[in-house]
Amino acid sequence: MISRSVVRIIALILVCETVSLATAYHGPEQARFIMPPTGRTTASGTASNVYNASEIQPLHLSSIGSTKFTTLSHPGFPNTRIRVKKTDFCDSTVNVYTGYLDVDAGAKHMFFYFFESRRSPETDDVMMWINGGPGCSSATGLLMELGPCNIDMQNLSSNGTVWNPYSWNSEANIFFLDQPVGVGFSYADYGETVETTEDAAKNVHAFISIFFDTFTQFSGRPFHLSGESYGGRYLPVFASEIYDQNQIALREGRSAINLQSVLIGNGITDISTLYQGRYEVECGTASLPVPFQSISTCVRMKTALPRCQKAMRETCIDQFDSINCRAAVNFCDSELSTAMYATGRNVYDISKPCEGELCYKEIGAIKAYLNLAETQELLGVKTPYDFAACSGDVGQNFDAHMDKWAVHTQDYVANLLDRGVRILIYAGTYDWRCNHIANKLWVDKLEWSGQAAYAAEEWRDWTAEGHKAGEVKETPLLTFATIREAGHMMKSFAMVSRWLARGHL
Ligand SMILES: *[C@@H]1O[C@H](CO)[C@@H](O)[C@H](O)[C@H]1NC(C)=O
Ligand SMILES: *[C@@H]1O[C@H](CO)[C@@H](O)[C@H](O)[C@H]1NC(C)=O
Ligand SMILES: *[C@@H]1O[C@H](CO)[C@@H](O)[C@H](O)[C@H]1NC(C)=O
Repeated sequence: MISRSVVRIIALILVCETVSLATAYHGPEQARFIMPPTGRTTASGTASNVYNASEIQPLHLSSIGSTKFTTLSHPGFPNTRIRVKKTDFCDSTVNVYTGYLDVDAGAKHMFFYFFESRRSPETDDVMMWINGGPGCSSATGLLMELGPCNIDMQNLSSNGTVWNPYSWNSEANIFFLDQPVGVGFSYADYGETVETTEDAAKNVHAFISIFFDTFTQFSGRPFHLSGESYGGRYLPVFASEIYDQNQIALREGRSAINLQSVLIGNGITDISTLYQGRYEVECGTASLPVPFQSISTCVRMKTALPRCQKAMRETCIDQFDSINCRAAVNFCDSELSTAMYATGRNVYDISKPCEGELCYKEIGAIKAYLNLAETQELLGVKTPYDFAACSGDVGQNFDAHMDKWAVHTQDYVANLLDRGVRILIYAGTYDWRCNHIANKLWVDKLEWSGQAAYAAEEWRDWTAEGHKAGEVKETPLLTFATIREAGHMMKSFAMVSRWLARGHL
């Protein structure tokens, strides 16, 4: 057990430098730095609600140098710092910054990438992208999907990446955050962990607050939270934390984060429809014109489905009981998931074979690239651990709390909608894991003030470059879109471009 005073030592030696934190923190003379942070002590990066906002040091992002980290502090988050530096990583056409959010008096370090917009960094919106897992690095979204560069799989470039013309930073300033601590390049000095989404939200809120308050050029800029997969659990909670903290900030005369929308791709949000969706993808015609699973397996799955749903309803949903809910989920997985793994198909894109870690060869290449000393030098990464695409430890810690099953995450979505935060739920039709049917089913039954209006809307095709890109149903606040023949991992630039420009597809 690490005492709080030991943890506090660390905060005070976070100066602008790139020295190895591991060595910097353990010198014997550091005892003299013991000093409680001024003001209220706060837990885990939570905002101390009352503070003097004029103590914030405003900066322009362009003043951040590339040779060493610049450290930012914030009176509202006395146990938290951001270190940031400029880098030549990934996109030579814009300014790129990387750094760490040091939380809990510097004991937890959360790594981020920030790319300015290719169009108009001074006026374009700000987005944040978060991959799922729980435990997976946002570097996979960056380097495989929507980031400014993608991992070079064909030996085309000398720097390991190729420029992505469909990057989401074409029209927005965008962050990629490795969270919670323990994910990607984010790490803790003494093995501290974050084990639930509700806890993780506090660190994310601190990060966004410090960024917007310090870099006043972005103050008030429309902000969008985006992500995929377990992001369907993370993002509604993160957005709700931002919304609730905004109300406190406004009451106290401080500025609020201009949270506009949440974009969730192939997410897991309402667990009640998950297994039915998987059945429809394998045994129905929801994804492919002819079901690919064997008839005997489909019959078996169909027989097990009502029992799975009843058990989940009774033990996870209506009244959560961790032992019985886990037993229900184990039953559902064994009857409704194992047959899919046996097909050898890519569970994130049923049209492809499963090849490599997470069924994609890219993952191994990303891991190798991010573990190169020269890449880590470019990024300013100092971590005692090798980069992993997904952290098994983080996944297990979340699972120990049954984070995925214990909370009605869809209720966060309903509450956000009822307060005017726009939500885009989108899904590639070739994903099996968090597929479009499961998502459509929960969105249809979501209880919110616009439920009837949403139900009354017609489905229509949406197009990109003259071709059908998918189907969409939308009300002013809620949009549901499919991306035709896309998997779990995708670029979907046409979609995000429209969403940012006009708030619907
Ligand atoms: C807030 O801080 C500023 C600058 O340090 C100071 O001038 C001002 O008096 C403070 N206001 C309050 C209410 O403490
Ligand atoms: C990496 O190399 C590719 C191809 O040679 C080039 O297009 C790209 O701009 C380079 N990336 C960076 C960050 O210099
Ligand atoms: C990649 O290209 C470089 C030079 O263009 C070459 O030296 C190297 O052997 C190639 N690597 C592979 C795996 O093909």
